[in-house]
Amino acid sequence: MRRNFWTGSVLKPALWAVFILTMALAAPMPASAQQAAPADEAALLQQLQGGPVTGRVSIPDAKSAVLIQPQGREWRDTLNGPVKSAGGWLLVLTVVGLAVFLAVRGRIKVEHGLSGRTMERFSGTERFAHWLTAICFIVLGLSGLNLSFGRSLIMPLIGPEAFASLTQFGKLAHNFLSFPFVLGVLLMAVLWIRHNIFNAVDIEWLRQGGGLLRKGVHPPAGKFNGGQKVLFWLVVLGTIALAVSGYILMFPFYVTDIAGMQTAQIVHAVAGMVMVAVILGHIYIGTVGMEGAFDAMGSGQVDVNWAREHHSLWVRDAQARGGGDD
Ligand code: HEM
Repeated sequence: MRRNFWTGSVLKPALWAVFILTMALAAPMPASAQQAAPADEAALLQQLQGGPVTGRVSIPDAKSAVLIQPQGREWRDTLNGPVKSAGGWLLVLTVVGLAVFLAVRGRIKVEHGLSGRTMERFSGTERFAHWLTAICFIVLGLSGLNLSFGRSLIMPLIGPEAFASLTQFGKLAHNFLSFPFVLGVLLMAVLWIRHNIFNAVDIEWLRQGGGLLRKGVHPPAGKFNGGQKVLFWLVVLGTIALAVSGYILMFPFYVTDIAGMQTAQIVHAVAGMVMVAVILGHIYIGTVGMEGAFDAMGSGQVDVNWAREHHSLWVRDAQARGGGDD
């Protein structure tokens, strides 16, 4: 009988030896060899009830020893749950509210008609600070909202590849434009802080709702009315909250631990969405909402009748200084 290659060769016992060796190596290691992980499942579960599950590392960065941090799950649920849905609703209701306001009140007109004579409202420096801030804010706002809502709203429309590129580009823009944005707000703050101290005139302006709700009502106001002063301080305080929390996120773990990072992310998301809602209202009133308002930041010149109706005390002071109409 001829012996074939398999049954007759020396390969057969050799293959058995390899098989036995492999099985022996694959057998469970003794407990003494498993030093980094908790001894058994029960101990692991017990640890999960409390703080994080940690191992041991020999590098200086002690936080890399954290294997599981159960509290991180609660934080993620808060961010993706109540924070995102409250923010989303705030933005939807703001847009709907502005549309209803436009439908009911209509565009706020210059009641005495345009006079054809203008006066300077904002200098070139003031407009530069404003538009630097505004352009950066629009990109920051859109790229930030994309991080929060893009995956569910934009990805289904453009597909995962295009969404990944868009988000990567948006994140870069978000990081870099934060610097000129903060600079712009700082400039506006320096230029306008002295015009934004609240006084009795502003309280009265706010009490009358700025006359925005009723035609023919024009409560007096200085360079900035009570509503604009509220906006100014919201922008200053909102930017401080966004910048502090944003730079903590941009330079992780330099000044805070994991709990601080998590708080920074929540503060950044909440402040960002509130700011976007506030600025939507501001953009509305500066464009479609009020006749003649855009020129103030466009050419820097406003119609004298517009100025008299909305900033009567400022016109009085400007004319007293000889800076009246052109
Ligand atoms: C497309 C976007 C924007 C438009 C069309 C716009 C329009 C205007 C206009 C017309 C004024 C002058 C109002 C007046 O003469 O009384 C103004 C002022 C101002 N803007 Fe904007 N703006 C925009 C974005 C922003 C952004 C993003 C910020 C801040 C984050 C901002 C902050 C301010 C502040 C603090 C003032 C002075 C107070 C006030 O007039 O309300 N603006 N803007």
